Amino acid sequence: MKALFINIGLLGLHYTNGFFSNNIQSVKRSLRTRNTPLSSTIQPPQRIAPDAGYIPDWEDRPGLSEEEFMKSDTTKPDLGDNLLECPLTRWDWEGIDLDEARKSGASLPHCPAEIRATSTSNSLGATYFSDNRDEIRKQLKESGAVWLRGFDLMKGVKGYREMYESLGLLPCLDPLHSSGLRKFASERDALYEEVNKPSLRQHYIGLHSESTTKRTAAYAAFVCFKKATEGGGRFLIADGAKILSDMDPVLLKKIYERQVRISVSNLDLPGGTPGILKEGFKNVVEAAVAPKFDMDLEMIYESDGKPGRLQAIESRESPINRHPVTKQPVWFCNAHNHLRYLRDRRPCGVPEVGMTDVFFGDLGSLNAEECEEIKRVSEKHITALPMEPGDVLLVDNYRALHGRDVFGGDRFHAVSWFSWDDNAEWRGEESRMREKDGLNKFVNKYMDWLPKDF
Ligand SMILES: [Fe+2]
Repeated sequence: MKALFINIGLLGLHYTNGFFSNNIQSVKRSLRTRNTPLSSTIQPPQRIAPDAGYIPDWEDRPGLSEEEFMKSDTTKPDLGDNLLECPLTRWDWEGIDLDEARKSGASLPHCPAEIRATSTSNSLGATYFSDNRDEIRKQLKESGAVWLRGFDLMKGVKGYREMYESLGLLPCLDPLHSSGLRKFASERDALYEEVNKPSLRQHYIGLHSESTTKRTAAYAAFVCFKKATEGGGRFLIADGAKILSDMDPVLLKKIYERQVRISVSNLDLPGGTPGILKEGFKNVVEAAVAPKFDMDLEMIYESDGKPGRLQAIESRESPINRHPVTKQPVWFCNAHNHLRYLRDRRPCGVPEVGMTDVFFGDLGSLNAEECEEIKRVSEKHITALPMEPGDVLLVDNYRALHGRDVFGGDRFHAVSWFSWDDNAEWRGEESRMREKDGLNKFVNKYMDWLPKDF
C-alpha cells in the first residue's frame, strides 16, 4: 500500500509541469476538444484571479492565541469516538421545469444572510443561539447561508461547539472521511481543519458543495480562528439557486439533459506503456486505492485524450437537484471547482495526480464557451467573505456552494459537518468509530498536498 501511494505521487509529480509544456500533441488535442480561440498557439493560458460579485471589507478584529482558541471543554463528551456517518446524497432531479426553476431562483434573498453581534448578544454567549435558534435556522433555510459576524463566543473551539449545539446541529463525518484526506482540528469536538496547509496557499478552491455522488453533508459551520497573516483567504459562498436562475438557458438545458461525470484524479503512465501493464495498473488501483474513497469510482483510460492517463471518474449525476426540504431546484454541481479548463486559467497549486475535470455524462467535453459560462455565472453570485475571528458561516450544503481564495502566511480555519437533525429517516443509523489505525495517518502524510475539496 505504501509503495503504491508513493508511486502514484511520483507519477503525478513527474507530469505536473508537463501538460502544457512537454506534450505538444496532447496540448493540441486538448485545445481542439475545447474549441478555444488559443488553438493557433501552444502557449499555456494566462492565469487570472477569479472574480466575485460582492466583496465586503475586512474589519481587522483581533483573535486569540492558538493555545487559547484550541481549548476544548473537557467536561463534554468526546464526539470523535462514535460520530454519525455522513448521510447518503438525496437525489431528486427528474422532471424539473427549468424555466420555472429560473424564475423561482431569481426571487430568493441574498446569500448569505448576515447577523452581526451586538454588545447584548455577545454578553449572552451561547444563550443567544438557543434563544434565537428558530430565527437563525429560518434564515438558513431562506438564504442558504448565514454569516454570524463578530461573536466573541466563537473565537475558540469551546464556544464554537456551544454555538452549534445551541442551534441543534448534529455533527457527522466528512463525506470522504474514509480517505483520510481531511485532518481533525479537534476530534473530540467533531471539528475538521479546512485547507490551511502551506503547500496549498496559492491554490484557488472553486465553488463546490461538500458532496460526492454518494454522500452529502446536510449543513456546515465554517469558522475562522486566525485569518491569513499575509492577506487573502476570503471564504467564497454562492447560492446554487441563483446560479441556476442566471445560467444561459441553452447550456442549462443541455447539461441537465446530458448530465455530468466528475474525474477526481489523474494517474499518468508514460505514453506507449503496453496494454497489459496498463490493465494491471488499473486493476491494482481499482482493488487497493479506489475502495478507500467512499465513492462510486470507475477507472477509465484517456478520457481527456492524454495517452497513458488513467482517470478516477465518478458515476453519472445530475448537475441540478431539488433541495430535500424546500424542493427548490438548485445548481448542485462542483464544476466551477473541478473543470480543468478553469483550473488551468487561475491560481492552481495541485500536482497532476490531484487534477480534476468535468465531462458530460457520456464523457463528452464541455467546450470553452460552456466552461466560461459556468465561470461567469458562478462568480457573479460569489460573496467573498472576509472571515475573521468570531465569524462563523452556517451553510445549507444542498443550497449554497463554497470555496476559498488564495492566501499568504498562516491561517487557521476549521469546519464541522452536520447530518439531518430532523428527518431522521434521511440520517440513517450508521455511525462508526473513527479509524484510528495507521492507514489514515499514512494517507494524510503522503497525500498532504491534495486539497480535500471534492
Ligand atoms: Fe469544501
